[in-house]
Amino acid sequence: MDNHKITEDALSRLNNCDDPRLKEVMTSVITHLHGVVKEVEPTDEEWRQAIDFLTQVGHWCDDRRQEFILLSDTLGVTMLVDTVTQRKPKGVTESTVLGPFHVQGAPKLPFGTNISKDQTGEPTLVTGRVLSQNKLPIAGATVDVWQASAQGLYDVQEPERFPDMNLRAVFHTDKNGRFGFCTEKPASYPVPTDGPVGTMLKALGRHAWRPAHLHFMISAEQHISLTTHLFVKGDPYLESDAVQAVKDSLIVDFSLSHDNAEADQFRLPTPYYKVQEDFVLATAN
Ligand SMILES: [Fe+2]
Repeated sequence: MDNHKITEDALSRLNNCDDPRLKEVMTSVITHLHGVVKEVEPTDEEWRQAIDFLTQVGHWCDDRRQEFILLSDTLGVTMLVDTVTQRKPKGVTESTVLGPFHVQGAPKLPFGTNISKDQTGEPTLVTGRVLSQNKLPIAGATVDVWQASAQGLYDVQEPERFPDMNLRAVFHTDKNGRFGFCTEKPASYPVPTDGPVGTMLKALGRHAWRPAHLHFMISAEQHISLTTHLFVKGDPYLESDAVQAVKDSLIVDFSLSHDNAEADQFRLPTPYYKVQEDFVLATAN
């Protein structure tokens, strides 16, 4: 059987699929996979390596590490999915990747809490509002935040070193749509390179660094949930983020503040970094 016939035969086996979307997706997957094989003509050894690589990616996944998300992120697939699925009206805050370090069940904390449990980094105050498309405040919106420490690590990466749920929290906006918390200034960090994705990056001659950022997942009734970042303006990796997740509108100033009254209010030393950013959610249809 020639190459072309094998592909045709594989596609013909979808004829009894009752789900038109599944059929459409699998037709494309099979066509493109076969296309790769026809173009690359892998040796048996290379194909075995490919299977081994994907097997390793799976083995590295558990409830605290998601190597498949990392693979998708570092191949630009996540941002491509984001681009085709998150076409939003003008004025709505742009989304970006979820990343592999979100953890369900972060503590629900009141306005102003410091989410840095050891408070060893540079003190930072983050405030903002969650707004609807017509710029009205959304009360009771859920603001799930997580970030890497000043050492560029998430708590789950070194659980013996960092307190559990360090630099993670869930806040709810007040009646004016406001949220606020204290934290430490995030640092740029390399994506985990101790697994198969790290091996892949090294083999491809790529750096693994991500520009410093805060993660946000924001949801509110009757609105489309938003997964996004705020990036630290001036970070050296903004132009070459290993996961291609930077959007200009998400780059914000971490300005140094000497406001003693505000520092007292939030029990922060002076000077401290200050970030103020509103998030606009799209209305759900
Ligand atoms: Fe991150």
